[in-house]
Amino acid sequence: MADKRRFDLFADLLVTRFPQALRVYDIAGGMGKLNESLTQRGRTVTTFDLRHKHLPVKYAQRLFTLEEPCEAELVVGMHPDGATRIIIEYAARHGLGFAVVPCCSDNGMPYKPWMRHLADVARDAGFTTVEEAALPMDGRARVLLGVWR
Ligand SMILES: C[S@@+](CC[C@H](N)C(=O)[O-])C[C@H]1O[C@@H](n2cnc3c(N)ncnc32)[C@H](O)[C@@H]1O
Repeated sequence: MADKRRFDLFADLLVTRFPQALRVYDIAGGMGKLNESLTQRGRTVTTFDLRHKHLPVKYAQRLFTLEEPCEAELVVGMHPDGATRIIIEYAARHGLGFAVVPCCSDNGMPYKPWMRHLADVARDAGFTTVEEAALPMDGRARVLLGVWR
């Protein structure tokens, strides 16, 4: 069971690390709880996921792809499963910041190599600043952040 505090903790980190990013794409956002936490902190958020049962937040009920029009300054994902890599690729394509809290890999890699691999993907895609942070919670809590300059 993932830590219930993850949405507020991630939202706090995001507004601290990306204070200029007012429009946020929340990828693989499940029920929309991260959207709710970020909205409470003054952000305009669109959540992309297929979930039928979700909160009354701005919600695009579809899979997120690289073809999605860009109306955001930041793209994020909490435990986004198969959408992890696309968050980084989409951010690079549009010159946005990204922050992702990876869980399982899309290629069978164990967690630690997966984290290193994602950082390499981001650097190879052109991010000049790629950093790690950690949320004070149980479970998969490492955050990969990219700033595009
Ligand atoms: C482990 S759940 C995490 C949900 C939520 N972020 C949370 O922390 O509770 C992974 C989610 O990724 C979604 N997902 C996977 N690939 C996606 C994609 N390309 N676009 C949107 N959602 C995707 C699934 O539908 C699922 O809801």
